[in-house]
Amino acid sequence: MAKRKFDDKALTQQVVRSVRKARDPRLKQVMTSFIRHMHDFVRDVKPTPDEWMTGIRFLTETGQWCSGKRQEYILLSDTLGVSMLVDYLNNRSTGKATESTVLGPFHREGAPRIKLGDSICKPGTPGKPCIIRGTVRDTKGRPVPHARMDLWETDAEGLYDSQRGNAMNARGVLHADAAGRFWFRCVLPTAYPVPHDGPVGRMLTATGRHPMRPPHLHFWITAPGCRPLITHLFAEGGKYLDSDAVFGVKDALVVPFRKGKGGAYEAHYDFVLMPEKKAGKKPGPRAKKK
Ligand code: BEZ
Ligand code: FE
Repeated sequence: MAKRKFDDKALTQQVVRSVRKARDPRLKQVMTSFIRHMHDFVRDVKPTPDEWMTGIRFLTETGQWCSGKRQEYILLSDTLGVSMLVDYLNNRSTGKATESTVLGPFHREGAPRIKLGDSICKPGTPGKPCIIRGTVRDTKGRPVPHARMDLWETDAEGLYDSQRGNAMNARGVLHADAAGRFWFRCVLPTAYPVPHDGPVGRMLTATGRHPMRPPHLHFWITAPGCRPLITHLFAEGGKYLDSDAVFGVKDALVVPFRKGKGGAYEAHYDFVLMPEKKAGKKPGPRAKKK
């Protein structure tokens, strides 16, 4: 019988070998890399057993905070920049298309349909009136007719509707016109904190970070033949643009919101959608055959 060697490197190899028969080559690639990185992390940090348990308790609590209304794991991924990294690697713009950014946990299916020129906010919503105008085009500069635009934002008190109750507000679904033009009303975006009363909030405090996001408005734009675009518009000069708690700011998405003649703030943006991904393209590099 061959001698069994035990040291940290041999252990890593043994664990990597244990997944070599995974049927799905992508799963094998993911697990192999995960095991190697986890073992390297432990070699680097050398946690004491108490520290390791602290980490396990943190992840346990993160799961316990998840519910139909709260996704603490997504928040953890967002606040560690992992959501933005996944988004960048999957949706990086060729330079012509509008940059994407993080979806966040506050999108809701079934937002009210609004007509061009309508407001996504019910009367009485706290906030200064604002009008957003622009166009939706493809990377060849052609208008995208009737693009569907799902829009959401907080009110001026920094709360999404779902943080107040069940009623939908400050969100809506709009269709651009036949020439790809859109315009709608909303309230001037405001800075607000990501949920920080749970384990992720504790992590932010313990690492000397704040939970704030700069003022922004969310867009999820879809149209036949185009890649969906999930993005924000950020208000130029807004607080926290340089220290967004979820690292979502890209310069090309920062626009002026200026007070117009009628008293409302106005912003303009021309969105550019990428062509649809070719069918059958795998999401990541294929596992090397061993
Ligand atoms: C948001 O912008 O709605 C958001 C994004 C990431 C985490 C929390 C909130
Ligand atoms: Fe937001």
